[in-house]
Amino acid sequence: MEQNKHPLTNEVGAPVPDNENSITAGPRGPVVIQDVWLLEKMAHFNREVIPERRMHAKGWGAYGEFICTKDISKYTRAKVFEKGKKTDVFVRFSTVAGERGAADAERDIRGCALKFYTEEGNWDLVGNNTPVFFIRDVHNFSDLNRAVKRDPGTGLRSAQNNWDFWTLLPECFHQITITMSDRGIPKDFRHMDMFGEHTFSFYNKENKRVWVKFHLKSEQGIACLSDQEAAQVIAKDRESHGRDLHDAIEKGNYPKWKMYVQIMTEEQAKKMPYNPFDITKVWYHKDFPLIEVGELVLNRNPQNYFAEVEQAAFTPAHVVPGIGFSPDKFLQGRLFAYGDAQRYRLGVNYNQIPVNKAHCEVNEYHRDGFMRVDGNYGGTPAYTPNSAGVWAAQPDVMEPPLDLQGAMYRYDPKDDPTDNCFEQGGKLYRLLDRKHRDLIIENTKNNMEGVSSNIKYRHAVHCLKADEEYGKKMAEALKLDFLKVQELAKLSNNELNKITSDPTQVW
Ligand code: HEM
Repeated sequence: MEQNKHPLTNEVGAPVPDNENSITAGPRGPVVIQDVWLLEKMAHFNREVIPERRMHAKGWGAYGEFICTKDISKYTRAKVFEKGKKTDVFVRFSTVAGERGAADAERDIRGCALKFYTEEGNWDLVGNNTPVFFIRDVHNFSDLNRAVKRDPGTGLRSAQNNWDFWTLLPECFHQITITMSDRGIPKDFRHMDMFGEHTFSFYNKENKRVWVKFHLKSEQGIACLSDQEAAQVIAKDRESHGRDLHDAIEKGNYPKWKMYVQIMTEEQAKKMPYNPFDITKVWYHKDFPLIEVGELVLNRNPQNYFAEVEQAAFTPAHVVPGIGFSPDKFLQGRLFAYGDAQRYRLGVNYNQIPVNKAHCEVNEYHRDGFMRVDGNYGGTPAYTPNSAGVWAAQPDVMEPPLDLQGAMYRYDPKDDPTDNCFEQGGKLYRLLDRKHRDLIIENTKNNMEGVSSNIKYRHAVHCLKADEEYGKKMAEALKLDFLKVQELAKLSNNELNKITSDPTQVW
């Protein structure tokens, strides 16, 4: 037989004589265990599926670069924000509720995870396409996902579970309003904005801290799909967002976003009428204007989906000098969750996978663990302090100290008289024109199909608390008694939850 120019080998490089015919005892006899290549092939295949991300399972990625175009050194010492600096970036976009095989064009928020390979380590900005989030306490996070994912009994997605959970936590209202608006189904990833959502911190060379929120605005503009358009897209193409991103980059039509920051001083934060670290609330642009800082461009597709997109691992815990966290308790929870998920999903050495690996030198005392593939630092001391003079900590990158106040306790923001869960959603509604207000009502009605009336009343009450017209239109669309909605709106959040969860009440 003529020798093939591209010889097939086994997993350790030995030539494979036959990849199609099993070794059998006689032409019609059983397979023998000596066909070790067959055993290896089957065994590897059985282990090829890794756990999908618990949420944000369906996603697409691309490489690019971030260019800092403005001088913001008065706020941050981060190298990535030195004027003129170009930094390599990898971005993974995702939907949240759907599994790995779900359709892209669903009504859902979109994840936007950005990895900046800076010269002082990787900075991950793991955000979404909306400026706020549904909830604000980590305790509610796993429950949110259980409510929006599949019902444990039927295995079906359940609008009832989804709306029951959302409406029992009034802080969800702002994000519900956004999700039910036209922006609830972006046309694709290129035509949407991205937000860090949380309050983070910047500190400069003098170690002076400010609070910061990150925004990335699409230079392609915003484009969204109606429920009907999305249904048509999904019928033909479940990968519409991924295909759009891939094809645009292949054609050289590179998508771009301008990055902006909002800055709040520590003094301003102390005087804020509401909690500036509450992720369910925005900072108004008129009080905290957007400051342009640079541009992100995506210009290269991954070569292998599993290696680069599925194995990508982002965590808000990865910050670099000049960028820090904030007292946002939701952010604090995330600082633990991601690394923990990735140690389970990819293994303890997941930061050695090329897409996750820093582009600068990494000198750490971590050793060993499954799939250690980098030489494990040879004979370099594995302990610190040591007398060999290697790898000492760098106190000059220490964050400034942060004053904290108050007793340790389980605080419920709803007990705080300055907390209003409906004000910002109401303001957003009033900012919109007739067409976009009507869309929220129409989309909510469609999305609540099959949901029981007690939950519909709960939501209509929230709409009314946000805005008279929003409440009235919602009651009409959901075919509710508006007088009853008005009566219920006199109750506190807790009383409303109680009465609308009371099985003896008739709705
Ligand atoms: C306490 C709240 C939260 C917890 C505990 C949490 C936890 C997680 C976990 C465990 C993953 C899967 C990570 C992996 O397997 O690699 C994930 C993915 C993700 N989360 Fe969160 N999350 C929270 C809130 C948020 C918020 C507020 C945002 C947006 C601002 C967000 C954006 C994302 C994105 C974009 C991904 C996908 C990352 C990727 O593409 O690999 N999450 N989250």
